[in-house]
Amino acid sequence: MNLEADPNLIVHFAGQYIPLREARIGILTHALHYGTGVFEGIRAYWETAGQELYLMRPHEHFERWKRNCEILRLEVSLPIDELCAITAQLLRRNAIHADAYIRPLAYKCAERIGVSPDNQDAFAVVALPYGEYLRSDQGLHACVSAWRRVEDNAIPARAKICGAYVNSALASDDARRAGFDEAILLNESGHVAEGSTSNIFMVRKGRLITPPVTENVLEGITRSAIMELAERELGMRVAERPIDRSELYLADELFLTGTAVGVAPVVRVDHRAVGDAALGPIAGQLRHLYFEAAHGRLRNYRKWLVPVYKPEADSGRGTNRLEQANAA
Ligand SMILES: Cc1ncc(COP(=O)(O)O)c(C=O)c1O
Repeated sequence: MNLEADPNLIVHFAGQYIPLREARIGILTHALHYGTGVFEGIRAYWETAGQELYLMRPHEHFERWKRNCEILRLEVSLPIDELCAITAQLLRRNAIHADAYIRPLAYKCAERIGVSPDNQDAFAVVALPYGEYLRSDQGLHACVSAWRRVEDNAIPARAKICGAYVNSALASDDARRAGFDEAILLNESGHVAEGSTSNIFMVRKGRLITPPVTENVLEGITRSAIMELAERELGMRVAERPIDRSELYLADELFLTGTAVGVAPVVRVDHRAVGDAALGPIAGQLRHLYFEAAHGRLRNYRKWLVPVYKPEADSGRGTNRLEQANAA
């Protein structure tokens, strides 16, 4: 889903809270020409019963962001706690009482020609209401893209570097123009890497399998959440091993995971049915568990969440109320 943001939305830009319409960069900005930025994607989920908005694993996202920035020698001067505080502040200032998406972006901001970057770095954070990214209720029809996933020795896929997303954009654009919902990219070895903005899991003969992080994939935070849920809640240890293209056609279940997509079942690949061409039992359970956890309804996974509106109440009475409900 592409979403136009309200120009009056308050964003964090150049160290200030200002309306989106005033947050502007110059035409010669280095990152605009050369893709020298690193971004993140974070979700916040609105829980109607408790009237609370939960940030999903913000510390892990900001930690990954800062580390990835180091690959480009980009410096984000603020500590993780402060970045989390800015994010919660943005959600409150914009009075967001709905599912939301947060986009931190660090970039090389010098305004000049010349590819070699210098030490002029900037960052911004935008938080906006955001619903479903891919309509996946009926399951997705994916294609294997003709584009190969960027190689680690060219542009590291694990780093969420802006320029690398040309690769995702090419694959996703081709897929949609050909009538598919999403693209699955192979890497240069011919193994399955990931979706254009998501990691991939396959169920085959009762085993849950995902490509290892050395296959040119983003080291997804949802991926790690799904691995934890699968192991702890379903007793399924996820095997990390290369996946061949033809295994996609033989899989019993396939699903994509990511901050934006959540857990999205793939029911057809290249016009071939995956299993029964419907949401499978394992994907279904993991999807349910993930969204329950993201909405604060599973006590064991409250560790992933940071409440935006009632931080104090939540660590006291609010939490107890929720925990009692969860325990019941
Ligand atoms: C290429 C790519 N792979 C995987 C993911 C999933 O990562 P995460 O679960 O951390 O959002 C994303 C989204 O951030 C992505 O852009």
